[in-house]
Amino acid sequence: MSTLATDIKSVADKTDQLLQDYFSKQKQKNDLYDAMAYGLFAGGKKIRSFLTVSAFDLFNLKEKDALVIAAAIECVHSYSLIHDDLPAMDNDDLRRGKESTHKKFGESTAILAGNSLLTIAFEILTSSYLDVDKSIKSDLVFALSSCSGHLGIAGGQFFDLSFEGKPQTQQAVIDMQNKKTGELMGFCVESAAIVAKQHSDRAELKKIGLDIGLLFQIADDLLDEYGDQNKLGKPSKQDNQKGKATLLSTLGLETTNALAKDLLNKIKNSLKKYGSKADRLVSSAEYILKRDH
Ligand code: IPE
Ligand code: IPE
Ligand code: MG
Ligand code: MG
Ligand code: MG
Repeated sequence: MSTLATDIKSVADKTDQLLQDYFSKQKQKNDLYDAMAYGLFAGGKKIRSFLTVSAFDLFNLKEKDALVIAAAIECVHSYSLIHDDLPAMDNDDLRRGKESTHKKFGESTAILAGNSLLTIAFEILTSSYLDVDKSIKSDLVFALSSCSGHLGIAGGQFFDLSFEGKPQTQQAVIDMQNKKTGELMGFCVESAAIVAKQHSDRAELKKIGLDIGLLFQIADDLLDEYGDQNKLGKPSKQDNQKGKATLLSTLGLETTNALAKDLLNKIKNSLKKYGSKADRLVSSAEYILKRDH
């Protein structure tokens, strides 16, 4: 494993440990709890956790706090995947190399497991696990809720589904992808400025995270078309079949690749002023584009 892959894995393990600890205190003997744990602990790259921990480097903040925020973010992310796979949405049967949550537990339980994972994220942020001022917690809760709802994930998913089979402009696709994927990654990076109380840096870091999110979704769309389903752990060649509006379908391969390269350069340039403190964030942006899963 490369040093970066080892570093990502180590952060993923620490986030998982924290989540295991939090969930063990609420363990229930029923399908709803099992479905939540199945959707959450099924694996996943935990790239959002790594982004959060990397953003904390910018202000020399404590990793311990980043991991609690990362745990909350992973709950929101897993909720969004459980719902994304439902028959009413992308109708996919495979996720993280296993049956999707609704295939294993049924649709109603999967919907409720998703809802419960979304709300538990805010419970974690306001719990004693996060050792920061109440005013910082309140800013974190405000920012995470706004990027989860109709201006974020839910809104982006709404447009993703409404655009199916209808050609879109480049800007409409970017707006949709910023919402469904970018906003949450924006929060990963912005959360460092919130915890550091560096309010003047918030908008800029949010924007860097949004661009990282767009890069991430471009890579996801390229992997859907050209990636290996076994490595991805989810069905490939779905977007074209479903008539999804992506930058790949809107602009073609060459222009999409050029746009991704420009985006990566823009992200690196914006991070230059942080010097070596941005090393891990720069590496994660590079990794996001060249990943194979
Ligand atoms: C998949 O996200 C959904 C998108 C936003 C494209 P990830 O590729 O981060 O999923 P996991 O967590 O690694 O399974
Ligand atoms: C999902 O995008 C984005 C979410 C917010 C869940 P996709 O539908 O492309 O994600 P995958 O490819 O199923 O993981
Ligand atoms: Mg989808
Ligand atoms: Mg999907
Ligand atoms: Mg996809």
